[in-house]
Amino acid sequence: MDSEEIILLLENLGPDSRGRLHTLAHQKRMDRYGTKVYLRGLIEFSNICKQNCLYCGIRSANKSAARYRLQLEEIMDCCQEGYDLGYRTFVLQSGEDDWYTTDKLAQLIAGIKRSYPDAAVTLSIGERDDETYTRLFEAGAERFLLRHETASRRLYEALHPTMTFENRRDRLRSLKTIGYQVGAGFMVGLPGQTSQDLAEDLLYLKELNPDMIGIGPFLPHQATPLKDEPAGTLEATLDMIALARLFVPDALIPATTAMGTAHPYGRELALQAGANVVMPNLSPLAVRPKYTLYDNKICTGDESAQCRFCLEQRIETAGFRVDMGRGDSLNWLSRP
Ligand code: SAM
Ligand code: FES
Repeated sequence: MDSEEIILLLENLGPDSRGRLHTLAHQKRMDRYGTKVYLRGLIEFSNICKQNCLYCGIRSANKSAARYRLQLEEIMDCCQEGYDLGYRTFVLQSGEDDWYTTDKLAQLIAGIKRSYPDAAVTLSIGERDDETYTRLFEAGAERFLLRHETASRRLYEALHPTMTFENRRDRLRSLKTIGYQVGAGFMVGLPGQTSQDLAEDLLYLKELNPDMIGIGPFLPHQATPLKDEPAGTLEATLDMIALARLFVPDALIPATTAMGTAHPYGRELALQAGANVVMPNLSPLAVRPKYTLYDNKICTGDESAQCRFCLEQRIETAGFRVDMGRGDSLNWLSRP
């Protein structure tokens, strides 16, 4: 499909055609990954960030955020807890916090890989230079999540006063060249976002052909300039998840926490529209309420064990099967 055809589709989806779209996406997911849903243990290790994205609750200009930074040993403790619960992927996520130098991160990653050689390490730490990305890859990190956020230059520039559109894309290309399994993705319902912008998101995904695709609704945070803007809708986000599955059939697509925040069954609905990954929280309970990207974020008060078993039950009730393996993307496995 070209941009015009996608726009036509997005602007004319009704209950029937939406149902058909979600069914097609579900069939494609069944064809590629079956009923498996991969679980990843998410460790939100610092909410300190030098960037200032307009939508984000932990942006540097938010002086009311209670900041925290986990020590390397504390992050290792989270991995130990996760490993004991059966996780074989750890997703290390943070704001852009330069306290974690390349050396510290490389030491942490090498320590995790030494202790848990059968587990995969995914980074989600924002933009760094090629040298850092290469050293972290050599230390053992094999996956990297860096959403492109929006494929529209106009929107990207309006929302990211401290970052550039070119650099974001350049970072994604570098990560791929270095050899990471790469995750891109975007928010749905950003203020001013049009069907054409969403069409560009899909076409950009098709071109980049990422291993993972994170899609969630924009949700406002009360201490950001976008506090009074309406949230992205569940329906529009489900449509984009379904289309992402059809555009990049082999990608791993998470049913995000933002989906679960937008609707009590948002994550189950995402799984039924083509998503196949869930990321329960392994962060220490004391810091969870501080990693607030948007208002009313769910799962900030559950123990890691509760989190795993609650999600497992939800996944099975929705008709899927939890898989605790590493769950590499088919896209990446089929690369020469
Ligand atoms: N700093 C890293 C980066 O830039 O990739 C990772 C952390 S960042 C907080 C993770 C993701 O949260 C972003 O890529 C963005 O899409 C999402 N996010 C931030 N604020 C949000 C909001 N208000 N609503 C929905 N998603 C949001
Ligand atoms: Fe840096 Fe959101 S502005 S993580």
